[in-house]
Amino acid sequence: MSSLKAFRSSFLDFIADPFYVSELESARYIPDGLLVLEDGKIKEIGTYDSLQHKYLDISITAYPGMLIMPGFIDTHVHFPQLEIIAAYGEQLLTWLNKYTFPTEGKFKDKIYAQKVAAIFLDELLKNGTTTALVFATVHPESVDAFFEEANRRQLRMVAGKVMMDRNAPDFLTDTAETSYQETKALIQKWHKKDRLLYAVTPRFAITSTNEQLQIAGRLLKEFPDVYLHTHISENVDEVAFVKQLFPESQGYLDVYDRAGLVGDRSVFAHGVHLTDAEFHRLSQANAAIAFCPTSNLFLGSGLFRIETAKSKDCPVKVGLGTDVGGGTSLSLLQTANEAYKIAQLRQQKLSPFQALFLATLGGAKALNLEDKIGNFAPGKEADFIVLDPRATPLMAFRNSDTIPTSLAELAERIFTLVIMGDDRAIHATYIMGKNTGVGSRD
Ligand code: GUN
Ligand code: ZN
Repeated sequence: MSSLKAFRSSFLDFIADPFYVSELESARYIPDGLLVLEDGKIKEIGTYDSLQHKYLDISITAYPGMLIMPGFIDTHVHFPQLEIIAAYGEQLLTWLNKYTFPTEGKFKDKIYAQKVAAIFLDELLKNGTTTALVFATVHPESVDAFFEEANRRQLRMVAGKVMMDRNAPDFLTDTAETSYQETKALIQKWHKKDRLLYAVTPRFAITSTNEQLQIAGRLLKEFPDVYLHTHISENVDEVAFVKQLFPESQGYLDVYDRAGLVGDRSVFAHGVHLTDAEFHRLSQANAAIAFCPTSNLFLGSGLFRIETAKSKDCPVKVGLGTDVGGGTSLSLLQTANEAYKIAQLRQQKLSPFQALFLATLGGAKALNLEDKIGNFAPGKEADFIVLDPRATPLMAFRNSDTIPTSLAELAERIFTLVIMGDDRAIHATYIMGKNTGVGSRD
């Protein structure tokens, strides 16, 4: 027998991209709606008045005064770096050597990796993030620990073992050959197991020989539906070092392109210093960028050109990434807040609709998962969050207790959520229609 459930509240999701069409056409807002689920998936959504007569005999969970949205999607984060969040004073390359590499060394110990994976996933869910694209470490144990913990919670997660065979301490390097064998075994073990998916994960061009990048390309050919996940053009010293290491290449993206790593399942984190030609190539390949605002500010990396990535004539898929531990928060609301400020510094505007699109359907598109998650279309997996626009005393002072009815009122309400909200504004997080119990209030 199938199980039906329903939720009554205000609902917001996106049915088109607000960077390309108007907010009226892209945002679907239902002030008093009913969301109906069947076996953990979306059955239908509509106004309460139009649907309630069909569901008189099922129990309805009501969230008055709340706003229900699809779960947030973090398109770039490192679970083993949770414990170095807020490490003082360095930019990328010294930060990696001083803080990151020593910490990642601890993840050879599976028990330790399990402990951190559990804390990390609790934090993700508390922050309303239901899907993420995740770096583990070079150790296969770290991938097993992460996927086991994610699977126990029935999460849709994408992750992979880091491949790195140079410019890093010995305790953190593999070889081209061992990275091939270990990655292949992990793909066979985890890719498409329940809701889990695998990403081939060379760290970045500095820590992989050309031989290892070619091996990554070979894995993508052998397993065409896995992802490619790496970093690109984050920091000026990094870009200069890559030029030195790969003198024959036309540029940073070209290093990856020559290894067959630039395709429609590729996600490149940062891209702060990409050239126009590189944006064109990403557009042509239908590859994605993970925009990581808190990290780009914290590590002093630079201001991402969101308007270039989202231009109509050269569109590139973009999601938001927290990039913890380079990033300073696991909250996609806080990440969107900093994205807004980066746009401001560049004389651009990022509307609250655009910001929340990036955190939901935009992220799903960046991960090619828009057939499964990202909005409330029938048949999609019911990962959703209950947001409280009056979560703190100051937010309650800022937001009245009346429910927005016009798009302009809604815009103001959700802008306050983006700017002032964090984990406290996540009242509850549901996975496949079940309350995880880790929200701030439930
Ligand atoms: N580039 C290569 N590795 C890393 C990392 O761990 N974090 C960030 N932010 N950039 C990187
Ligand atoms: Zn990163």
